Amino acid sequence: MTPETKQNLADPDSEAAEIRASLMRGLPEIPCRFLYDETGSELFEQITHQPEYYQTRTELAILEAHARDIGKIIRPLEYVELGAGSGRKTDLLLGAMDTLECCVLTDISEDFLKESVARLRVAHPNLQLRGLTADFLSNLGVLGQSKRRLITLLAGTLGNLHPGAVPGFLRRVAQQLTPEGGFLVGIDLIKDPARIEAAYNDRAGVTATFNKNILSVINKRFEADFPLDAFEHRARYDTENSWVDIRLQATRPVDIHAKALDLKLRFNTGEEIRTELSCKYSPESFAAVAQDTGLKIREIYSDNEGLFANILMVREDG
Ligand SMILES: C[S@@+](CC[C@H](N)C(=O)[O-])C[C@H]1O[C@@H](n2cnc3c(N)ncnc32)[C@H](O)[C@@H]1O
Repeated sequence: MTPETKQNLADPDSEAAEIRASLMRGLPEIPCRFLYDETGSELFEQITHQPEYYQTRTELAILEAHARDIGKIIRPLEYVELGAGSGRKTDLLLGAMDTLECCVLTDISEDFLKESVARLRVAHPNLQLRGLTADFLSNLGVLGQSKRRLITLLAGTLGNLHPGAVPGFLRRVAQQLTPEGGFLVGIDLIKDPARIEAAYNDRAGVTATFNKNILSVINKRFEADFPLDAFEHRARYDTENSWVDIRLQATRPVDIHAKALDLKLRFNTGEEIRTELSCKYSPESFAAVAQDTGLKIREIYSDNEGLFANILMVREDG
């Protein structure tokens, strides 16, 4: 632990119980936050540069065009980014908002976060800037009281939540804002399924490596022995649910022992583990899940092709 970071993660026992229960489901799952150790964060950064991955370059262009407007609407004193990753978008937003006094970057990937915070401190020496290692799903309260705050959750990260979990999450975000604050969220829009699937099956195979890295993380954290070469990356767009279902499929029968979970599992050829959902929305379907959450949509910023949107929400009572 360093002065810049503070441990606000799940305690190891409840985390072990959670992962044990999710691996024992009919369709075994590993929560997607386990994709992100330092290697996972570096691989995600590489994904953002793949030609098929339209999301990052599209969102960067949207933010470049509208960051000043967002700054004028909210006039934030504090900027908080959830799941900040490399901080590339943070840099752009901080540069466009002249009312800011301080900035908090949060992520679960502690070492990667430290590097991002160090880079941003050099680029923005007049801002009080700190990193906070925290899980934004279970521990938003750690942000504490603030004056006028802009919270952001960029990329398609909100899409990693099951749609049923989104209203509760938005309610918790609303509680972290004073009435004049704002929440800026990135939403990957529903589009041609082939275009979406290509983004999660890049030709260079970076997404496949990123997905399999989750098994290395589980092996290290829970003394497990998943053989990475016995699983293949699968990412399919489910048009009925408007989500990309990302899985690892066993290519041969394998027996797994996770000592720290006191768990033995067998995967037969073709059996799968779900590692991530990436839900896509239309502006209308997002408005529907955001109803009655204490937040209302103030602005929707998008690109000419309608690939991606950044939605600015404010408190209903603001
Ligand atoms: C899809 S990446 C987006 C990174 C960056 N914001 C961007 O726009 O490129 C998701 C980020 O959220 C972090 N993350 C994922 N689940 C998290 C959680 N439950 N709590 C905190 N951070 C999380 C990951 O470590 C990663 O940096």
